[in-house]
Amino acid sequence: MNSCAKKKTAVITGGTGGLGLAVARTMAQAGYQIALVDMNPAAGEKAAAEIGALAPCAFWAFDVTKYDDAPKLFEEVYGRFGSVDALVNLAGVSTHRGTTETIGVKDWEKIVNINLTGLFFMCKAAAPFMERSGGGSIVNAASIRAYLATGDRTIYAITKKGVTCINAELAADFWRYNIRVNSISPGYVLTEMTKVHIDEPGWLENQLNIFLIDKMILPEDIGEVVLFLASDESVAINGCDIPCDGGAVACRGKPAFSGV
Ligand SMILES: NC(=O)c1ccc[n+]([C@@H]2O[C@H](COP(=O)([O-])OP(=O)(O)OC[C@H]3O[C@@H](n4cnc5c(N)ncnc54)[C@H](O)[C@@H]3O)[C@@H](O)[C@H]2O)c1
Repeated sequence: MNSCAKKKTAVITGGTGGLGLAVARTMAQAGYQIALVDMNPAAGEKAAAEIGALAPCAFWAFDVTKYDDAPKLFEEVYGRFGSVDALVNLAGVSTHRGTTETIGVKDWEKIVNINLTGLFFMCKAAAPFMERSGGGSIVNAASIRAYLATGDRTIYAITKKGVTCINAELAADFWRYNIRVNSISPGYVLTEMTKVHIDEPGWLENQLNIFLIDKMILPEDIGEVVLFLASDESVAINGCDIPCDGGAVACRGKPAFSGV
């Protein structure tokens, strides 16, 4: 596991959710100070108590669609911890499921505002504080859905593809401040967001069949990838999306024949 020698600070949005909390645990264990950012105050206080047992940690009840308030949030984090070294943008929703004819403007705006616009303005607001900290690393949440179209999570998929574009654009801009911008594209990891599928007939079998690994991907597996991308060990990676899907996109399922 990587560890940071000097105390560094990671801001994690969606920090009380399934992946967010796992990432917070991994980064706290590696020596980061943790700023948890999420909309859910009750879960936030509970998460801050858990992570606080591992490393300095504080919770900010914050809605990432309050774009104009984002600079103030980072000012507070910087004031509290003395640096902003990593931003992990995991706040996200997948609240519409259905064919295109069922998509309304409100469905579109909700998902785009959180997954894409909110994420973008969090990156923008973090940059001056990362620059002040000597540079940093931004890790955004894209998704396997940016690559595998199913026609029933269309808005979500569009936002996740958009995130991969945000990486490249901001990397091309922020390199001057020594800030790298990448994303992760997890396959299905069991969290609040995905557990709605677990009772669907055949869903779990289907998941296990599309991964080229013999298990479901766990939140802590994602934590290790985020830790690596946040750290200087990944200095060669910038403007990229890293699939964390057990090979699902690369191979579209377990090959029937793997001989010569
Ligand atoms: N779980 C998976 O299999 C999976 C796969 C691919 C991508 N992802 C992405 O990873 C990220 C985390 O997913 P998860 O499974 O932990 O989801 P989750 O639903 O468990 O957690 C998401 C968190 O985001 C927070 N949030 C939602 N809207 C917010 C807002 N406006 N402001 C601040 N916080 C807000 C929620 O309160 C929640 O704590 C998401 O962006 C998701 O799209 C997840």
